[in-house]
Parts: sequence; C-alpha cells; structure tokens
Amino acid sequence: MSDAILQVRNVVKRFGGIIAVNNISFDVREGEILGLIGPNGAGKTTLFNCITGIYTPEEGKVYFMGEDITGLPPHKIALKGIARTWQKTRPFKKMTVLEAVTVGVLLRTSNVDKAMREAEEILKFIGFPEEKINALGKDITLMDHKMVDLARAIATKPKLLLLDEVAAGLRPHEMDRLAGILRKINSEKRITMIVVEHVMRFVMGLSERIVVMHEGQKIAEGRPEEIANNPKVIEAYLGTKPV
Ligand SMILES: Nc1ncnc2c1ncn2[C@@H]1O[C@H](COP(=O)(O)OP(=O)(O)OP(=O)(O)O)[C@@H](O)[C@H]1O
Ligand SMILES: [Mg+2]
Repeated sequence: MSDAILQVRNVVKRFGGIIAVNNISFDVREGEILGLIGPNGAGKTTLFNCITGIYTPEEGKVYFMGEDITGLPPHKIALKGIARTWQKTRPFKKMTVLEAVTVGVLLRTSNVDKAMREAEEILKFIGFPEEKINALGKDITLMDHKMVDLARAIATKPKLLLLDEVAAGLRPHEMDRLAGILRKINSEKRITMIVVEHVMRFVMGLSERIVVMHEGQKIAEGRPEEIANNPKVIEAYLGTKPV
C-alpha cells in the first residue's frame, strides 16, 4: 500500500513456549485512526512493544515511512516520530501538570521557558482545565492523568501515536470527551493513530478500520461494522472471559 505510514510484516514475538505475536501483518494508512482489538492476552501490547523497539521481533519487519526500523532502540524510534501511551499509567505525584508536560517537550528542545510555553499551548489545545495546570499529580483525577499522558505524547511531535487502552477506567461521558480530543489531535495535528481498546463503543466509534488479534494471530481486518458482524470475531470474544 503506497500511502502506508507503517507497515508491519510477518512479525513474530515469543516468550518461551508462548507465541505472543504470531506472524502479524497489516498497514496503517497516513492520517487514519486504526483500531486494534482482541481479547485479553491476544498480543496487542506485545505488538506495540515490537513496533516501538521495546522488543525486537524474532521474525518479520516493521517499516515506518518506508524505512526499516526493526530492532532499533526505543529512543531512536521515538525520534523518528512514533510516540505511545502505556496501558499501565504511571501517575506522577509530586510534579505539577505543567511540569510533567514540559518534560515531554524538553525531549526535543533545551530551552526551558520555551518548553513551558509550548506545554501550556498543548494543554490548552486538548482542553485541559486551565485552573488545574499547576495542580500536583496526586491531586488530579484519572481523566486528568489520561489527558496529561496524551499531552506528553504529542509534545514530542509524533507522526504516529500508539494508544494502549487509554479509555480504561473512565466513565462514559469522559470517554466521549476523550474520543473528541483524539479526533481533534488526528485532524488538526495530522497525527496517525493506532488505538488498542477493549471498550467497543469507544473504539468502534473512533476507528475507520479495525484489526482483530486473537491468541497472537490476526483473525480479521475491516470497517467497524464488518468486524462487529464477523463470526470469527464474535467467537473469539465469546470463547474467553467477557471484557
Ligand atoms: N514479558 C512477558 N513475558 C512472558 N510472557 C509475556 C510477556 N508479555 C506478554 N506475555 C504473554 O504474551 C501474551 C500476549 O500478552 P499481551 O500483554 O501482549 O496481550 P494483550 O492483548 O495486550 O492483552 P490485554 O488486553 O490483557 O492487555 C500473553 O499470553 C502474555 O501472558
Ligand atoms: Mg495489553
């Protein structure tokens, strides 16, 4: 596919006897929001770790903007323009919101004053409540922390953003707000996204296309409505504990 920003080709990652990612291939088109779903243990986070350099796949290749990035260390991949958020948020406690986002900006500039102004702009862009930007991490809500995670990720000016269960733990109205923020980042900052998510309403509403993993393998790929009616997908979800 010529307009692909990311190409994953036959990626395999094993842990001892477990094949966590088993011969996965797919493309991400420039500018799209791609959903990546699958039951617990399907291999979604491991695949993100293979794309971002945390793990080197045992087989297969990852191409970013046409360049083979397989096996590069995480900081080199980040510098090329791939950012991520983590499934387990690591909430900061003693820093303020503004300081936490400034740290993200400082990854690509050394001027602290400028970085702080830029951090302020990013927080404003995503609609973070202005009166809370000097609050300490320990005093803000889960939704606030999710927004800070996002702000830190986009502070590095990525071209591709990988989001690992960013909606987990949020209330329905907070999820709707988050979906709106992601759409705005996608359209106005032109950042392509892969969204890993268990909350179907969230991921189906947000994504143009969905890739489904089950036990390490890709079992389906298509538009959300195709995926929702795919018997293989339904079976994969019914065969495991409900999510
Ligand atoms: N560091 C590791 N060492 C050993 N096994 C691992 C490791 N990381 C993941 N696994 C195993 O690989 C498989 C895929 O796990 P992974 O975390 O990628 O799934 P997931 O799709 O992200 O699941 P979830 O939706 O629960 O987050 C699971 O069987 C898991 O136990
Ligand atoms: Mg995971």
